[in-house]
Amino acid sequence: MDSIAITGGGQLKGQIPISGAKNSAIKLMVASLLTDEPLRLTNMPRLADTRFLGKLLNHLGTSIVESDGPDGPESVLHTPTIRSHFAPYDLVRQMRASFNVLGPLVARNGQAKVSLPGGCTIGARPVDLHLKAIEALGAQIDLHEGYVYAQAPRGLRGAEIEFPFVSVGATEHAMLSAVLAKGETVLSNAACEPEIEDLADCLNAMGAQVSGAGTPVIRIVGVDRLSGATHAVITDRIEAGTYAVAAAMTGGEVRLTNTRADLIEALLVKLEEAGVGVTRTNDGVVIRRNGSRLKAVNVDTAPYPGFATDLQAQFMALMTLAEGESVIRETIFENRFMHAPELRRLGADIVVSGPEARVTGVDHLEGAPVMATDLRASVSLVIAGLAARGNTHVSRVYHLDRGFERLEEKLTACGADVRRIKGDGSVDE
Ligand code: EPZ
Repeated sequence: MDSIAITGGGQLKGQIPISGAKNSAIKLMVASLLTDEPLRLTNMPRLADTRFLGKLLNHLGTSIVESDGPDGPESVLHTPTIRSHFAPYDLVRQMRASFNVLGPLVARNGQAKVSLPGGCTIGARPVDLHLKAIEALGAQIDLHEGYVYAQAPRGLRGAEIEFPFVSVGATEHAMLSAVLAKGETVLSNAACEPEIEDLADCLNAMGAQVSGAGTPVIRIVGVDRLSGATHAVITDRIEAGTYAVAAAMTGGEVRLTNTRADLIEALLVKLEEAGVGVTRTNDGVVIRRNGSRLKAVNVDTAPYPGFATDLQAQFMALMTLAEGESVIRETIFENRFMHAPELRRLGADIVVSGPEARVTGVDHLEGAPVMATDLRASVSLVIAGLAARGNTHVSRVYHLDRGFERLEEKLTACGADVRRIKGDGSVDE
């Protein structure tokens, strides 16, 4: 298993181009199941998660051709026919969002058998809202031996679906299922994340009729068929936010490009409150800190446009060096503080009680061996390692590879001392 070795203490200075969003790309890839024509996705991130999903889509009948086009990395996905409506456990458990093939398979093929995704280190993450939405669209759903069997031999039909609370995945899954349903679907209390708008834009380019994405009410008028299209994956706001926090923590000056400051506004406001210099630009943001001590600020995670849960671990790392006490409340997932004990190994003062973490800033962190537990937790340890004195060794970095494209390369370009140690002991230069 690879690990990452960091010698901390230096400032970050330079420019980091932000990749396409993992959490959008994987839903857009699923959309390719809805048409027999090729779907071309540009600004595609190359990540372990897109590879995992690619394997499942191949199994279902999708061919995927990856290349470097004039607009950067792209993938052309083509599903002339659905070859299998069976998504096995081994392919779904590697990446939870694979579960989102259920609705499109039923919509295009009338039936599907998809493994339940199972638990996750950050929380129980049930899929009850997904199943209720697909049932409301007229599918018959049965659960046996860890699998969901869904059938709608005469196709899905539009419905009014009100989500009891906001779910990104259930909103996207309902959209992916309803675009080919007969009649109109109205989704209320829908998630407003930018990735939802991105999915709607792609579906509309394919000929769907989706309006209201990005607001809590989304209307979808079903169409008989969808065509191919070309669509650019939205910028990864979580990657951008992560590097913004890294620059804030180490000090220095980093320009993030190929991104949008408005998508991380909730974070930028908190960084400014903490005393970090933030300049919003046409293609991103510049983050700057010149050695002044950070100030503690409180954060509650919330659905978009609130403070993203996917940036909570990184912000906690930042607050370990701030002056005063910061209270961080996680309101989306019930077990998303696994990074706290690892940050404590670097010298942080963090007390977790239920959904709340109290972080009292310390004068400095000291490098240590730490272990990654999930994607965002792992990157918070990398950020903390960059700011710590001495050497930090982050093991189990396969979590990082799920969602951060060329992380070492991007950080090294800004002067960081970050090396990947291959499972066989060799160092990736
Ligand atoms: C998406 O997960 C993201 N994943 C997550 O990013 C992100 O943290 C999350 O949205 C919130 O922004 C992808 O897009 C692949 P939810 P998702 O459904 O869709 C509960 C990362 O690190 N819930 O909005 O699974 C659920 O347990 C990942 O990139 C149900 O109870 O999140 C959670 O407490 C981690 N029943 C809350 O809703 C359901 O049927 C919100 O989850 C569905 C969700």
